[in-house]
Amino acid sequence: MTPRNIPTSLYKLSLSERSQIISDYANLDQSDIKALSCGLTIEQADSMIENVIGRYTLPLGLGTNFLINGREFIVPMVVEEPSIVAAVSYAAKLVSAGGGFKTSSSEPVMIGQVQVLDLADLADAAAKINMAELELLAAANRFHPTIQKLGGGAKGIECRPLPDTPAGPMLIVHLLYDCRDAMGANAVNTAVEAIAPLIEQLTGGRVNLRILSNLTDRRTARAEGLVPVDQLARPGLNGEQVAQAIFEAWAFAAADPYRATTHNKGIMNGIDAVALATGNDWRALEAGAHAYAARNGRYTSLTDWSLITLDEGKFLKGVLDMPLSVGTVGGATKAHPTARVSMKMLGNPHARTLAEIMVAAGLAQNLAALRALATEGIQTGHMRLHARQVALAAGAAADQVQRIADILVSENNIREERAKALIERGLHNTTKP
Ligand code: MEV
Repeated sequence: MTPRNIPTSLYKLSLSERSQIISDYANLDQSDIKALSCGLTIEQADSMIENVIGRYTLPLGLGTNFLINGREFIVPMVVEEPSIVAAVSYAAKLVSAGGGFKTSSSEPVMIGQVQVLDLADLADAAAKINMAELELLAAANRFHPTIQKLGGGAKGIECRPLPDTPAGPMLIVHLLYDCRDAMGANAVNTAVEAIAPLIEQLTGGRVNLRILSNLTDRRTARAEGLVPVDQLARPGLNGEQVAQAIFEAWAFAAADPYRATTHNKGIMNGIDAVALATGNDWRALEAGAHAYAARNGRYTSLTDWSLITLDEGKFLKGVLDMPLSVGTVGGATKAHPTARVSMKMLGNPHARTLAEIMVAAGLAQNLAALRALATEGIQTGHMRLHARQVALAAGAAADQVQRIADILVSENNIREERAKALIERGLHNTTKP
């Protein structure tokens, strides 16, 4: 898909103008447009989970200005929190000024775990497993010939002895499984269940759990972005001062787990929103991200920021490298009508490309948060958007919302009662509130 005139200022357009633009851009048809406003039918919802009594909708917005490996993307994001979409779009624009995001990803290799107990000698059992690797891989591959034809499937076996657990010694067998475009939970779980009896035969032990690991440190995506320092200038602060303040903000997260948790939450604001929009399992991503952030024994920042000087000038450089197990086939990605449209808007990417788009969104979201926090603080922008929600909650019509929100902000009185009063007295129609 080639980019076709996506205006960067989508927020200045009406909902229907935006919808028209995105329809042209992504060749959406009538059923796609319907899926954007209606989402799941109640019957579809009923077949997705248990005890269904309704549907729960969230806003789907578009992150703009994403230039990734030289290609433009608009990024569908589902999230309830104001500011996130505006902030990520602004930060993506800053990164575009430095040439855009450069992304890469590993092969989509997941880990399935088999827990083996009642072993007299862990090293001996591990040796037997290693000797039988080919036999185990063949057994693991029996149930998913298609994934193997596509170049995926079981690729390796590793043993992790745990000599000292609350339940005594145990051997953990890792099955490395390339999931291609699937998130892979089903394929991996089927494969580890398939090899468990063989593991018992080989070792004489007893298998308990057989389940994938969400710490997908073999399935990672990386994004790097440069921001020309002068792009960061703000009223009263030059670009270098802002870049330095962002670097200091990152250093705080790098050194302190209390701050790193919030810092990483901001990264996940972007990643989860794309995961939700594309029907991916955001809990799996959350679990993997936070475990990875603590992989060296201390919880820290998932991003790295530094100040660098190149021939072209001074830059703020950001890198985000993290586990990202997302799929583009199977599951809600295909079953959920709105997720299908999100995928279409992204040009129906393969799983690795989707992971790279998500990691770029995470890096941009982090840049936006650090920049706001290190300059005017997060509340100014937040309150402006919060005021719109307050106006809506007070019953403002679509064409009144912005004016009422502006008045609430100018009065520094963002309360529903005040918004109601403004609506009742028609004050939003005057220039003097
Ligand atoms: C709010 O949803 C996210 C932030 O708290 C992230 C951060 O502090 O870096 C703004």
